Amino acid sequence: MKSADSELFSIAQAVAEAAGALLLRERPVILHAQAKSSPTDAVTEMDKRAETLIVTMLSEARPHDGVLGEEGANRPTKTNVRWIVDPLDGTVNYLYGLPLWSVSIAAEVDGAVCVGVVDVPALGRRYAAVRGSGATCATAEGVRPLAASAVNDLGMSLVATGFGYASEGRARQATIVADLLPRVRDIRRLGSAALDLCLVGDGQLDAYYETGLNPWDVAAGALIAEEAGARIRGAVGAWPDGGMALAAAPGIFSAMEESLGLRPY
Ligand code: IPD
Ligand code: CA
Repeated sequence: MKSADSELFSIAQAVAEAAGALLLRERPVILHAQAKSSPTDAVTEMDKRAETLIVTMLSEARPHDGVLGEEGANRPTKTNVRWIVDPLDGTVNYLYGLPLWSVSIAAEVDGAVCVGVVDVPALGRRYAAVRGSGATCATAEGVRPLAASAVNDLGMSLVATGFGYASEGRARQATIVADLLPRVRDIRRLGSAALDLCLVGDGQLDAYYETGLNPWDVAAGALIAEEAGARIRGAVGAWPDGGMALAAAPGIFSAMEESLGLRPY
């Protein structure tokens, strides 16, 4: 690992861990949500507190880097590094007290994501990757390497997806999932895009796709899935074919593209 990447990796891990601990430890019993892009798109005070903590820690460690965060951080870079941050991915799960939510921190160097960390505090897992160095999952038992599943039959594949918050977009997403459902083992909608991508890397899902994502949803998770051997369609924030993001075990990637009506990538 290059020493520049190693520095960014250490910072990303420390920041993700601190934000994850804050969200786990300080979740109020009664959590109030405000509407963002639509009445069902929630933001809580904890999303904002986590982003403030992350931006403060990143600014202390690397004051001249850029930062893009879901809750409004948008600082241009004066170096070749920009951080892409989702302080709480899976806000609706967090609001309902479900454990599938994460903190996602990615570092982009010269426009390409090189470091990704996805902390999943309620599961006790921290997924991480550095470009060219593989992907890992750290738990209380230790650190293990990730590997995407060896499945090669779409009909035996467990596929996750997600839905946006605008109802017109959801109607389109519903037709896509209705077409796919008869062709796969089953469908999951877990509620955190960053975690979905890590689970593809961990072989606990065979594929994940979604339209309409933002860079902070996918920046870290896509690198983790790719470094674990999954195939990824498109670069972060630049998904082809109407913004369809796809990560899949290599043995079913082409079948997923075909089933979703995508041009081969
Ligand atoms: C959402 C989650 C969800 C995905 C949505 C995202 P948020 O992010 O990742 O799984 O389906 O498209 O917006 O709002 O919880 O940060
Ligand atoms: Ca998100």
